[in-house]
Amino acid sequence: MSKLVAVLPGDGIGPEIMAEAVKVLQALDLGLVLESAPVGGAAYEAQGHPLPEATLALAQRADAVLFGAVGDWKYDKLERALRPEQAILGLRKHLGLFANFRPALCYPQLTHASSLKPELVAGLDILILRELTGDIYFGTPRGRRTASDGHFPGTEEAFDTMRYSRPEIERIAHLAFQAARKRQSRVTSVDKANVLETSQLWRDVLNQVHGQYPDVQLDHMYVDNAAMQLVKAPKAFDVIVTGNLFGDILSDEAAMLTGSIGMLPSASLDRHNKGLYEPSHGSAPDIAGQGVANPLATILSAAMMLRYSLGLPNAADRVEAAVQAVLSQGLRTGDIWSAGCERVGTADMGDAVVRALA
Ligand code: IPM
Ligand code: MN
Repeated sequence: MSKLVAVLPGDGIGPEIMAEAVKVLQALDLGLVLESAPVGGAAYEAQGHPLPEATLALAQRADAVLFGAVGDWKYDKLERALRPEQAILGLRKHLGLFANFRPALCYPQLTHASSLKPELVAGLDILILRELTGDIYFGTPRGRRTASDGHFPGTEEAFDTMRYSRPEIERIAHLAFQAARKRQSRVTSVDKANVLETSQLWRDVLNQVHGQYPDVQLDHMYVDNAAMQLVKAPKAFDVIVTGNLFGDILSDEAAMLTGSIGMLPSASLDRHNKGLYEPSHGSAPDIAGQGVANPLATILSAAMMLRYSLGLPNAADRVEAAVQAVLSQGLRTGDIWSAGCERVGTADMGDAVVRALA
């Protein structure tokens, strides 16, 4: 039976970059069924909710979800439940997408686009594994109230709850060790165990699960130090496994080491390898509609989808090789452009990848 892919373009540059990924998937001629639905601000405008029921139902029915980006400043004043970000948070929660793989790979053709010295990033290949459905993002209780204690009793306060259960940590720990086995067999677990109770449990569980993977090296690092080491000696890392909030922050930092966040795909998987695939960057409303956004992160996300959720590793290899080929041809969107290269727009880049598939 042919596989169903839910295509959710979203806001800002989302529709433009998604069009190029769809072009590439169609050119592969794999017999996939692609079905689109609105999400984020676009869905709020059209249907009054950032994650309409029909969109969620399509995502649940599909074999995989290809997601563009959501968000725009014009929705900043909406109540939280209606903001575009709730679409991606809702999809993660409802689909049980607890494991977020964010590779940070420095392409040899783009070494000079990094803000770090070329020798620090040449050959960089790290994998950030971010827990995606727990932590302070989803922990309850949360809300606002009048403080009954603390520094200013009787005044308005807000609170969130950082929470992790043992099974939540165990399942992400297993994935980290398994991913490391396919790489350099080194895991760095990042936490704040000198301060936080959740981090202390995180560290205990990592150590216990590590007992089943004696061939993999495990180190622990505090998150503040990890942020520093990432810009000091990023190549010292192989797999970084961390919680939802720390992973959000460190994955943006790691992405920028590679020169452009416009190049980096990501995969968010559930326990059955069903997944949502999206570029690591956001909706970039400042350049939306201009045809200049880099579609490669979305195209590479489609490749990850072919490999991890659709069981089509050869097609994934072809897409990744085609992206390498266009970079070697010197084609660059504005975000990765440097002197001597040819500046191209979003659609030209997508067309070039399609040509390179042949
Ligand atoms: C990300 C984004 C999201 C997050 C936002 C849009 C809710 O920053 O995917 O990293 O914080 O997880
Ligand atoms: Mn983020």
